[in-house]
Amino acid sequence: MQGEPPKLPFREYEDRRMHTAPFIVGIGGTARPRSSTEQALALALTAAEAAGATVRMFGCDEIAALPHYLTPAAAECDTGRTLVDAIRRADGLILASPGYHGSISGLVKNAIDYIEDTAKDDRVYLDGLPVGLIATAYGWQATGSTLATLRSIVHALRGWPTPLGAAINTSAGIFRDGECLDERTATQLQLVGRQVQEFASLRRSRPAIMNTSAA
Ligand SMILES: Cc1cc2nc3c(=O)[nH]c(=O)nc-3n(C[C@H](O)[C@H](O)[C@H](O)COP(=O)(O)O)c2cc1C
Repeated sequence: MQGEPPKLPFREYEDRRMHTAPFIVGIGGTARPRSSTEQALALALTAAEAAGATVRMFGCDEIAALPHYLTPAAAECDTGRTLVDAIRRADGLILASPGYHGSISGLVKNAIDYIEDTAKDDRVYLDGLPVGLIATAYGWQATGSTLATLRSIVHALRGWPTPLGAAINTSAGIFRDGECLDERTATQLQLVGRQVQEFASLRRSRPAIMNTSAA
């Protein structure tokens, strides 16, 4: 778990961050605790952590507690503030959504909407951040369209979708007690976590590599 962000000038804060573990934020799941989607996200974050990252997950409990973005309740919501603060400090992100009617769920999209709070930051949205993507569905068709939607959203937010997106068909019940019983899927989730960690570390050691400010 991370503490409060230091009260330092942005550049000095960035210099210090170079010498600490990359901070990877996970957002996803459904309104059901321990959903396949949430378990998939947790496994990818665990792989990022094993590769050297510090991680923070916003799963069912957090995303289901978020009021609709921009409502008066959202402005008062501690979970929303914590989420935006974590995004601001993140070196990488992992998003996991179920496929609902062929696209991402409203709950996950609402959580992503909170990233709009960073629109006027020095680092806008997810600028230059590696973002791992996970889409689950009860069949293959919606995994593809959900993954494509997640990629479009990340591009709109100036993030860098990592090469492997995990498309997971949950119809065979492949998640149990936090474990993935399907070897190929488990490997994919580990790769998603590792790729985000690796790109986050690369960006720290050579920030120019993912700099888009001249574009
Ligand atoms: C409102 C709703 C819409 C859904 N739409 C689709 C769909 O279009 N295609 C599909 O394959 N599965 C659909 N599903 C099933 C979810 O994608 C499935 O629950 C997914 O694998 C996530 O599993 P989880 O709830 O255990 O995380 C839908 C489920 C709900 C609740």
